[in-house]
Amino acid sequence: MTTIGLIGAGHIGSQLARLAVAHGYDVVISNSRGPETLSALVGELGPKARAASATDAAKAGDIVVVTVPLKSYRQVPVAPLAGKVVIDTNNYYPQRDGHIPELDDESTTTSELLQAHLPTSKVVKAFNHIYAAELTTHGQPAGSKNRRALVIAGDDPSAKATVAKLLDEFGFDAVDAGPLKEGWRIQRDTPGYGPRRNAEELRKDLQAAKRYRDQ
Ligand SMILES: NC(=O)c1ccc[n+]([C@@H]2O[C@H](COP(=O)([O-])OP(=O)(O)OC[C@H]3O[C@@H](n4cnc5c(N)ncnc54)[C@H](OP(=O)(O)O)[C@@H]3O)[C@@H](O)[C@H]2O)c1
Repeated sequence: MTTIGLIGAGHIGSQLARLAVAHGYDVVISNSRGPETLSALVGELGPKARAASATDAAKAGDIVVVTVPLKSYRQVPVAPLAGKVVIDTNNYYPQRDGHIPELDDESTTTSELLQAHLPTSKVVKAFNHIYAAELTTHGQPAGSKNRRALVIAGDDPSAKATVAKLLDEFGFDAVDAGPLKEGWRIQRDTPGYGPRRNAEELRKDLQAAKRYRDQ
């Protein structure tokens, strides 16, 4: 039995918890204010869910999702995530996150920042370009015509395969953008960021993406 840990239980974290429970996973959810503030969501999710501290959610998860505002990424616990597949949903909004110079000058990407913070984890970028509400409404069974596709990026092929399988179970095709450093191709203001796309369309969007300096 696989447990999915969630660090962050807001718009995206709560929706991924719903999807995970609906597909038979156990979930351990966490936020910044403490497990007692998540009782309503745990009640909704039912017996396969519990709330914990971020450290305990990280320890409990076989796969762990980091879905916090990017400005908080340095608070993500490091040791309990060692060696694990970590899904990174995060995006950079300077008005929310403050300016991060290495993102402003495009010398790195959001998921590479998280990977640097979690050096022995296997970070896979996923679920960053779909509106939270659509996670539970746009999924379709494998093989559906015009099925929605979502991007993954990562440096560890087996971790990417694990996340691609999870996407498929949750109702989405996976399109591999390559290593984490290619994750900018699906960052805010790129063609694929937000709209519903099938796999072929999304591949074209990734190719058409431009760095901020070239826009
Ligand atoms: N909203 C979307 O449609 C969407 C779509 C794709 C990607 N994203 C990206 O995904 C990330 C999460 O977005 P969101 O909309 O879900 O944000 P959100 O609704 O603001 O939720 C953020 C969650 O992170 C928790 N959190 C903050 N700091 C934390 C910490 N240090 N340790 C543990 N938990 C912490 C918050 O807990 P408290 O409430 O207790 O502070 C909250 O549960 C962002 O980077 C966002 O850009 C969002």
